[in-house]
Amino acid sequence: MSQDIQTQFRHIPVMVDEVCALLISDPSGIYVDGTFGLGGHTKALSSLLNVDAQLIGIDQDQTALAQFSPTSVQQSLHLECTNFENLDQVLTDLNVNKVHGILLDLGLNSFSLDDPERGFAFSLKGPLDMRFDRSGKRTAETVVNEYSEEDLANIIYKYGEERHSRRIAKRIVEMRSIKKLTQSEELREAVSRSVHPQFRNKSLARVFQAIRIEVNREIEVLSKILDTAIQVLAPGGRVAVISYHSLEDRMVKRYFRDLSQDVPLQPGMWEDEVKIPLLKVITKKPVTATPAEIEMNPRSRSAKLRVAERTAYASK
Ligand SMILES: C[S@@+](CC[C@H](N)C(=O)[O-])C[C@H]1O[C@@H](n2cnc3c(N)ncnc32)[C@H](O)[C@@H]1O
Repeated sequence: MSQDIQTQFRHIPVMVDEVCALLISDPSGIYVDGTFGLGGHTKALSSLLNVDAQLIGIDQDQTALAQFSPTSVQQSLHLECTNFENLDQVLTDLNVNKVHGILLDLGLNSFSLDDPERGFAFSLKGPLDMRFDRSGKRTAETVVNEYSEEDLANIIYKYGEERHSRRIAKRIVEMRSIKKLTQSEELREAVSRSVHPQFRNKSLARVFQAIRIEVNREIEVLSKILDTAIQVLAPGGRVAVISYHSLEDRMVKRYFRDLSQDVPLQPGMWEDEVKIPLLKVITKKPVTATPAEIEMNPRSRSAKLRVAERTAYASK
């Protein structure tokens, strides 16, 4: 991407006021932005935290991290280029035991989405890549050319919620038997030739999303980071997750719900052994962007924010 495009580009953080209001429990605490991106949320948090607070920013996309100027925050800031699934290791290396807030603003930053070289956007010509972490081995090209027809159909159905998944997978396999698919426009063609023109754009968005989720193991790493969050949050600390599609939102909702249930008394247990739930759900319903924000930043339309708090006297 040219320098001109980079400097013109401005990423608008989603639901930034809501995130800050719901995430900060201790203004001098340690906060992890697990999806640092271009640092929009971190900057906003920084402006509300005391100078002795600590910030840890994680992103597996070095290109995004490289855009950030650390002097734009007052607090100590540690940036780490890794997958957030490695949060426990990052904290161990920093000698940090517990943190007071963890933010996950899932998906990809608009900077990468708009870069044709990354292959995320179905509307742009570029290589079939879609890796958040560009050192990773698996690309969209690997998935599209090497997965069986059945696996492709299942991924497109499960991660894209696309009902024409079988037809699209069949078309991909037909096309790749003639020539390996290497460009995003070839995947676009496979989808376009499988669905009615009326539904084309929706199907394209779903298929590209599904392949991206598979390339980056997005569901698996989300499940891992939620488990880690429970272990590393200080009592009263909060985890906030912004998700952009229903699959992730459902997962977060169920996770928070399951860990916020009272553990019922089992036969043979004493009454004082009843376990207190690990989490308290702060957002009974997901928080969504206001109409004014959606008008200013259409990307916020599908965003859902859920927040949970680590309980103070959890027994685990
Ligand atoms: C929606 S953007 C975050 C934007 C950020 N909140 C801001 O205001 O600039 C999501 C970012 O998370 C990163 N990301 C997604 N999944 C990740 C993971 N498993 N580990 C680390 N970073 C990840 C992406 O590379 C992307 O930069």
